[in-house]
Amino acid sequence: MKDHVIIFDTTLRDGEQSPGASMNAAEKLRLARQLEKLGVDVMEAGFPASSPGDFESVQMIAQKIRNVQVTALARTSRDDIDKAWQAVKDAANPRIHTFIATSDIHLKHKLNMDRDQVLREAVEAVKYAKGLTENVEFSTEDGTRSDRDYLCRVFEAVIEAGATTVNLPDTVGYTLPDEYAELITYIREHTPNIHEAVMSVHCHDDLGLATANTLAGIKAGARQVEVTMNGIGERAGNTSLEEVVMALHTRGDLMKLETSIDASQICPTSRLTSMITGIVVQPNKAIVGANAFAHEAGIHQDGVLKNRMTYEIMNPETVGLAGNDLVLGKHSGRHAFRDKLAQMGYELSREELDGLFRKFKELADKRKEILEEDIEALVAEEILRVPDVYELDYLNVVSGTVAVPTATVKLKIRGKEAQGAGFGVGPIDAAFNTIAKLAKSRTKLMRFSVNAITGGMDAQGEVTVRLQENGSVTLGKGTDPDIITASAKAYVNGLNRLEYMKKNPRVSPNERLP
Ligand code: KIV
Ligand code: ZN
Repeated sequence: MKDHVIIFDTTLRDGEQSPGASMNAAEKLRLARQLEKLGVDVMEAGFPASSPGDFESVQMIAQKIRNVQVTALARTSRDDIDKAWQAVKDAANPRIHTFIATSDIHLKHKLNMDRDQVLREAVEAVKYAKGLTENVEFSTEDGTRSDRDYLCRVFEAVIEAGATTVNLPDTVGYTLPDEYAELITYIREHTPNIHEAVMSVHCHDDLGLATANTLAGIKAGARQVEVTMNGIGERAGNTSLEEVVMALHTRGDLMKLETSIDASQICPTSRLTSMITGIVVQPNKAIVGANAFAHEAGIHQDGVLKNRMTYEIMNPETVGLAGNDLVLGKHSGRHAFRDKLAQMGYELSREELDGLFRKFKELADKRKEILEEDIEALVAEEILRVPDVYELDYLNVVSGTVAVPTATVKLKIRGKEAQGAGFGVGPIDAAFNTIAKLAKSRTKLMRFSVNAITGGMDAQGEVTVRLQENGSVTLGKGTDPDIITASAKAYVNGLNRLEYMKKNPRVSPNERLP
């Protein structure tokens, strides 16, 4: 029988610490449901002590997700552990994940504690957590820059105190595969009770080695991997779930290990993660990038046509790339539309489906064929919608080589009409300035990007904006064949999301672990 590798997904916690990632509670729950469908064993839903909002979203996930262990992060203080426990205690299988740094650099400059003090605090934290639940994980932050004999002492003591999983993070993405494997081997050989706990690995990608290090850790005996979808996370990100899973799957001949992941859910989960966080997947990203299965060179295309195995080590279908076999158009009915969404891996409520179908019909009136990318853009708009404070009623823009770019805008603000005009350095700037003036918003535009959704002259433009106001950051999306209208829609969506965040205060997206 093959050994099982536990997939611990931290997209909703470490992933959310990605610069610019922002998810509200409903979005986190939607992603949690998809992670459950993907088949992760454990999901780290958040860091409840970081804000009341994060506490609530972890609690909601713990109450709704039934087939996956749900865990929450806590520092070693009782207060943090209590909050983590209160948030996850209703889960079918809750876990507390507590951590403290063990490297001399962190001890001296961050914690101002000596090694014995840290060891005592780690043991106290685990004992306290153990009083609340059987299922306790302990992590040595900055483990790979910690003294190896000290790590063995800490692991021995926390296992003695009741930790059932011990995790060795490469917090700063510093280690190399052989070095990480040697460290894990050393720990496994010099910690007398190590076999009483599951050994876990957690890597960051600062040197582009997170997947290699994670696989090296598994080879050295780790049986839990901490990963995120699309590899999102602090700085350069975390180990990407899809890379580790598909490496184990594809090289089963060498690794002889299995996971519980349903690989066909990888691409749908990747798309949803990108939609919800606004973090675009680079085209050449392994497994889930747009080009991951594209063959450009003639010699490769020829080979693939003769036999896919010549240049493909995985089937696109295995990772859930549906293929474009069902093209929709203006005569497609609701049934075909729903089937297409299901084929693409989207589960939507009846109301969402109604709204989407209406928009699909509007688009189909303008375009002959509706491609998957068009549908994805419609879904993204729907998923990112929050109750509207601002609605774009009317937009007229004048611009050109001699005209001063001018926008006239009519907005509905909480149902009341407001109209105005304004200038800008270009038509989009003019539209944004006018909308901001009407909304009395002091929002800062942090990022603006336009993507032509499909090729061709009638392609829809998809605009993503990232807006900041008083420390809160959110994204907004808008789609339209006219990119100025798409931009205005994205801006209004961003303003609505900021309003929503004010009413539903939750983790400020980039709240750092102290
Ligand atoms: O990178 C890290 O050290 C972490 C721990 C808190 C597990 O994310
Ligand atoms: Zn981390």
